Amino acid sequence: MSPAMPFLPERAASFAGEVDALFLFILSVTGVFALGIWVALIFLAVRYRRRSEADRPAEIHGSLVLELTWTIIPLLLMSVMFVWGAKVYFQLNRPPDDAMTVSVVGKRWMWKIQQPTGQREINELHVPIGRAVKLVITSEDTIHSFFVPAFRIKKDAVPGRYNLAWFRATKVGTYHLFCAEYCGTEHARMTGRVVVMEPDAYQTWLAGGPAPESPVVAGEKLFTELNCITCHRPDSAGRGPVLAGIFGRPVKLASGDTVVADEAYVRESIVTPAAKVAFGYQPVMPTFQGQVSEEQLIALIAYIQSLQAPSAAAPAKAGRPSR
Ligand code: CUA
Repeated sequence: MSPAMPFLPERAASFAGEVDALFLFILSVTGVFALGIWVALIFLAVRYRRRSEADRPAEIHGSLVLELTWTIIPLLLMSVMFVWGAKVYFQLNRPPDDAMTVSVVGKRWMWKIQQPTGQREINELHVPIGRAVKLVITSEDTIHSFFVPAFRIKKDAVPGRYNLAWFRATKVGTYHLFCAEYCGTEHARMTGRVVVMEPDAYQTWLAGGPAPESPVVAGEKLFTELNCITCHRPDSAGRGPVLAGIFGRPVKLASGDTVVADEAYVRESIVTPAAKVAFGYQPVMPTFQGQVSEEQLIALIAYIQSLQAPSAAAPAKAGRPSR
């Protein structure tokens, strides 16, 4: 515990400084204007108070200069907020390509976290310093919000949806993790910690404990156990599309639209397969809603993501017509 309550939380992520600068800019602009309005209000109330029963003030017919001034100055200030805000927003919402992916599942009342190598953690997240970490956040029940003040990230965990957040930790240490969305009686206790470690210490930490099953391996097993493999055969003779190489690529749909096969699309295709059927295929796939947990969905997605197209020269087409 620090002796005094700081005005801003500690800064431990790459964009924390920029988020703070933007916040302080908006706070000062609105503060100065709020103060100005109060001063003007009091001054004008006193200056133009009614002095007698027969008070007849002079009529005023507007001032072009005044109106232009109070239009242009706020417009410029707001434009700065907009452009700067948009820049920071895009920065916060675009994880770098080399980021390591950590899955986060909110559940009343805990955070279930899985490292890219498979290690699972509850209410704790260990990360190496200096490395971009992409969080794929979802929820098993109600809406939660993953909030790490020191990193300036706060993202809702919404059931049935994957929200992305990312950070690059800049300081070794332990930081608070909160749930920032009221989610029931134990909401206030849905807290945890993020531990930022030196890369070596992180590797040692990963190596400790029982050898985990990576999401890709777990997903591959599920793919067989759930019989996905019978229709999604690797040789394109199945009733479903070949999945190798589709991740991150556009998929042509029966409706004529095209979607990118990202986490959200793959998830949707597992729980509600009829929603977006690939072009050239019949909507014969059964739903797996309720049969696979959020963790299993994440594993299946990781497995599908790991499937490379047979050859880079001839990538598998998602929209190959059925026999
Ligand atoms: Cu989970 Cu509040």
